[in-house]
Amino acid sequence: MSGGHSTYKPSTGLERWIDQRMPLPRLIYDSFVAYPVPRNLNYAYTFGGILSIMLVAQILTGVVLAMHYTANTEMAFNSVEKIMRDVNSGWLLRYLHSNGASMFFVAVYIHIFRGLYYGSYKAPRELLWILGCIIYLLMMATGFMGYVLPWGQMSFWGATVITGFFSAIPLVGDWIQQLLLGGFAVDNPTLNRFFSLHYLLPFMIAGVVVLHVWALHVTGQTNPTGIEPKSKTDTVAFTPYATIKDAFAMVLFLLLFAYFVFYLPNYLGHPDNYIEANPLKTPAHIVPEWYYLPFYAILRAITFSIGPIDSKLGGVLAMFGSIAVLFFVPWLDTSKVRSAAYRPWYKLFFWLFAANAIFLGWLGSRPAEGSYVLMAQAATLYYFAFFLVIMPLLGLIETPRKLPNSITEAVLGKTKAGAAAVPEGAAADKNA
Ligand code: HEM
Repeated sequence: MSGGHSTYKPSTGLERWIDQRMPLPRLIYDSFVAYPVPRNLNYAYTFGGILSIMLVAQILTGVVLAMHYTANTEMAFNSVEKIMRDVNSGWLLRYLHSNGASMFFVAVYIHIFRGLYYGSYKAPRELLWILGCIIYLLMMATGFMGYVLPWGQMSFWGATVITGFFSAIPLVGDWIQQLLLGGFAVDNPTLNRFFSLHYLLPFMIAGVVVLHVWALHVTGQTNPTGIEPKSKTDTVAFTPYATIKDAFAMVLFLLLFAYFVFYLPNYLGHPDNYIEANPLKTPAHIVPEWYYLPFYAILRAITFSIGPIDSKLGGVLAMFGSIAVLFFVPWLDTSKVRSAAYRPWYKLFFWLFAANAIFLGWLGSRPAEGSYVLMAQAATLYYFAFFLVIMPLLGLIETPRKLPNSITEAVLGKTKAGAAAVPEGAAADKNA
């Protein structure tokens, strides 16, 4: 995956034998050992690694859970109860998987916001960003279908509400809805196809992650300064420097994960999902999982029709539009400077955007009435304005702060950077 010249030297006869037939050890060495990374990466850059282990954890726990789960509306709820009570360590597996989904989204949101802050999406990393957006979409679909499987009240009514929105799409809406449901309402065929897809999609995510990391190794990582490495002193070897930092961050993240699993296992879930699905009894408030709440707020913020578009279709368009806009970010941001660290105004609008996203999440958990709707409309407006107005305009009018000449200079200051840059090879060894 590394674009540069390979420095791999097989140390045993066996390694040489494999290398001549299928250079997999060489690929791993070039991509994860010798691979040069900027020397100034901070902890925000550890979340890609964290996401990778979370994906593996979700697949492993999910595969074992599936051995005990029954995708049938008569048995699904009880099969989950059986996992919790009778299957050896079943409670642990289930709590790891359900809280793991939440932790996965925590990590992906930090990862995306890191990208927005440091301008990671800018050329030549547009494709890397787009692959990330595809992963995110797949994650949302996977999470949504997974939540239906325990066949609780929220599973059933969440699925009913969300699939119902597809019917708002003109001409093909009803057809899409029926295709998703496998009929005219959420029922056994729905549960079966959701289970099938929920099992399949994580492997598709894994495939897109391989492409994502491939694209990353072609362009290299950005760094907090946003300037590309220019000399050997600007980078260090991936192992041990990035590996040990990633490993440390993973341990901290896993501690937080463990805290939820062992102390607050149901905190992020909804109590109604411990009541078996009942198509005849609608819960007072139907709310999705926390990680969808900002989009749910946007969906419900459109309470008016715009020309031929009624409020239902408008809400659906706004919700899909709020994700679709992410794909265009590399072209919406017109700034020549990559990192927010050198863009005072962008930094301000970025933090407002982050606060606004959290606010939208909170609004998504409230009933869609009175002042909540007004606030959701204002927050939705800012969400879109950030991407469609602020990003393109600010890049043209903002005066950025002076950039350092190199990554080394940003880390060591001007004088030391000059000294380090002269005996290039020697300094690189010392820093590496
Ligand atoms: C399963 C989900 C994902 C995995 C396993 C993953 C993995 C990674 C890894 C290992 C890195 C390098 C380390 C780092 O910079 O943190 C990375 C970088 C990156 N990822 Fe992801 N990623 C995922 C989702 C996403 C999403 C949803 C987006 C954006 C919508 C995204 C955008 C990026 C970008 C732009 C970079 C380059 C960062 C830079 O160099 O500045 N990724 N990803």
